[in-house]
Amino acid sequence: MKGDSISIHLSGLRQRFNGVSVLDGIDLDVRAGTTLALLGPSGCGKSTLLKLLAGLLRPDEGRVMFGSETVADASQCVPPEARDLGMVFQDYALWPHMTVAGNVSFPLEMRGVPRAERATAVADALALVGLREMASRRPSALSGGQQQRVALARAIVARPRVLLFDEPLSNLDAPLRASLCEEIRAVLAQLGTTAVYVTHDRAEADALAHTIVTLSHGRVEHTVHR
Ligand SMILES: Nc1ncnc2c1ncn2[C@@H]1O[C@H](COP(=O)(O)OP(=O)(O)OP(=O)(O)O)[C@@H](O)[C@H]1O
Ligand SMILES: [Mg+2]
Repeated sequence: MKGDSISIHLSGLRQRFNGVSVLDGIDLDVRAGTTLALLGPSGCGKSTLLKLLAGLLRPDEGRVMFGSETVADASQCVPPEARDLGMVFQDYALWPHMTVAGNVSFPLEMRGVPRAERATAVADALALVGLREMASRRPSALSGGQQQRVALARAIVARPRVLLFDEPLSNLDAPLRASLCEEIRAVLAQLGTTAVYVTHDRAEADALAHTIVTLSHGRVEHTVHR
């Protein structure tokens, strides 16, 4: 089931908002098929860095590379939909009017995948997160943990090269956080996807990540390889 993993390289990345420097020269590498956790105090620029990876923001300076492909630098910025990535956010961001299957199928529809192929891929993704029985429910009829598993299924259904997580478990209670964290780790290991995972929670970073990077004042404060 593993696809071709890619590495991520960030060099000299700078981002200012209204003249205030938020990221001040970030150099980072994520090895292909590994998970990098980003830790750091509130406001240190974690989500900003994730948005630069996603293409939701264009860096003021520096370069973002996915494998050997430059996806952002001074002269270009590849839009999110052309970066072949999946994202999971703190607030799930599911579409309430769609069923679970509809939510998970959506990225495939955007990519023009034929209906029969979509049905198989959606069933596979839901099976991976243990929600096969919930395909026809609405998100409002699911628990928070189940909703986040739907968001995970939606992020992986198209087997993207890169997965980005922004505090995906922060809205859940502690026991559920631990079990979902383990599920995310297992899914990432099974798919071999390169991932960047933002969290406030050291235990989550320890459980999931091959590399833990702490940001402080817009810079990499330290890096631990595990
Ligand atoms: N679009 C924006 N316009 C202006 N300032 C912004 C914008 N986005 C973020 N900032 C500012 O940049 C800084 C870093 O924000 P960011 O969201 O990256 O922090 P964070 O590390 O994710 O924090 P948290 O842990 O609270 O989520 C903050 O001071 C924030 O107010
Ligand atoms: Mg944030």
